[in-house]
Amino acid sequence: MSLEKEIARRKTFGIISHPDAGKTTLTEKLLLFGGAIQTAGAVKSNKIKKAATSDFMEIEKQRGISVSTSVMAFNYKGLKINILDTPGHKDFAEDTYRTLTAVDSVIMVIDCVGGVETQTKKLMEVCRMRDTPVLTFINKLDLEGRDPFDLLDEIEEVLKIKVRPLSWPIGIGATFKGVYNLYNGSLNLFESNKTKITDDVITINDINSDELDNLVGKDAADKLREDVELIEGVYDAFDVNEYLAGKLTPVFFGSALNNFGVEELLNAFIEFAPTPKPRETSEGIVKPDDPKFSGFVFKIHANLDPKHRDRIAYLRIVSGKFERNKFYDHIRLGKKLKFANPTSFMAAEKEIIDEAFPGDVIGLYDTGSFKIGDTLTEGQKFMFKGIPSFSPEIFKELVNKDPMKTKQLEKGIQQLTDEGVAQLFTQKQLSNRKIVGTVGELQFEVIQYRLKHEYGASAEFVPKSYYKACWITTDNEEQLQDFIRRKAKYIAYDKDNNPVFLAESAWLLQSAQDDFPDLVFHTTSEFKHDIIKA
Ligand code: G4P
Repeated sequence: MSLEKEIARRKTFGIISHPDAGKTTLTEKLLLFGGAIQTAGAVKSNKIKKAATSDFMEIEKQRGISVSTSVMAFNYKGLKINILDTPGHKDFAEDTYRTLTAVDSVIMVIDCVGGVETQTKKLMEVCRMRDTPVLTFINKLDLEGRDPFDLLDEIEEVLKIKVRPLSWPIGIGATFKGVYNLYNGSLNLFESNKTKITDDVITINDINSDELDNLVGKDAADKLREDVELIEGVYDAFDVNEYLAGKLTPVFFGSALNNFGVEELLNAFIEFAPTPKPRETSEGIVKPDDPKFSGFVFKIHANLDPKHRDRIAYLRIVSGKFERNKFYDHIRLGKKLKFANPTSFMAAEKEIIDEAFPGDVIGLYDTGSFKIGDTLTEGQKFMFKGIPSFSPEIFKELVNKDPMKTKQLEKGIQQLTDEGVAQLFTQKQLSNRKIVGTVGELQFEVIQYRLKHEYGASAEFVPKSYYKACWITTDNEEQLQDFIRRKAKYIAYDKDNNPVFLAESAWLLQSAQDDFPDLVFHTTSEFKHDIIKA
């Protein structure tokens, strides 16, 4: 198959949601459609099986969370669909943000009872940085949820994206009767706990006919007619280009647990969702059909068995064809590397592959060559842009408890932060004091545990009351140097040696801004679309 054909049959996406909205359940149902798994429950039981493999995973298991971002691929109607799973636990938000740089679109799951919740809000902000197209699935229609119009208004207001319902529920909770498909006029009647995966849909040529009353009852039929009239009056016709530009989200309703409305969502996804998109590099845009291979690392997963310190780097292919055992350029290190055992993640099983194409994610065995954001190419000299760091929310100073193991501690913290477990800021003016920043408390436990078990180093964390880490840009170099001198106590350097201001409060950040008007403070390291304002 030609490169163009391989690209045209791929769609790579992630699912975003607030924990418990139904992301895992929906993923599982999508995999059932693709035939990638045979029984419901496989995704979760796989999580548990994995969790039993090491002590470190034991921490996760006890806390009932899944730390790793996994990749699952399946074939559906001739397409190859790659799902990049994102950890739902808020402590691992940073991992999720980075994963979103490797997808071409997302499906957002919203619980019809809870509506738009905090985690979804944050994840949408990240999607907006790249204008990622978003399809919305409003889940749990079998429960007594909120009014669908209210939910749509909330999505528009809180998430700042236009909505366009493409399906519409008939009743909700105890009175939930099914979903009417607004774009092809079919009706899908609800049955709970469906065992077959394909929905039997009925085509309704005219919703004003008696046929609808006979199927769902007169009251529900009248309500649907009223709702549809309102929808057609209030919302413009669906424009796929607005969706592809990330300006509008088409909305579907259903119940992932009952496998209801999922097929419609999947069919809309394969019809509308984008194929692999171009990516920005230091030397301009690279298109997927560029015949030369290129890709970037967005995640590193450590082998949690301390006897085998190898890791898996997750590489998203952007252009050309990746081939096993071929030498590629590791741009940051200026080294040539080849990979004997690249893996794909078909059907949640790992297998060695000979080739892979744009949109695919492959696992590369790594003994320490990769950092998050690294670029691999077939000779082209550029680096991909945009694996942003976000300001952590919790900061602690790393204190060495065993001076005999200083080297191990250094190496350990460098490698763990290369993996993206946490961010490391070094206060060069203060004897290289190390500040570790994370989104959640749990990472500190993970780091402490791994430093001890994998590197034999013993460390302690001392809480710091910083409010935000702000990257600084300016055209006024003199003012920057003055700022760095005067605020020495609050200046640290990130892993790429960029200066960062550790602000203790919103007020202090504002007063720094007032005193140094030419400096621009950013709470993400990606400055171009800095929409998450301090
Ligand atoms: P997450 O990955 O987004 O965190 O959510 P997950 O799929 O694990 O779903 C969270 C809970 O919501 C699960 O219940 C799941 O069964 C339930 N759920 C998902 N979709 C629906 C739906 O359409 N209707 C209803 N009523 N519930 C739904 P749990 O009790 O926490 O877990 P489990 O014991 O069922 O696995």
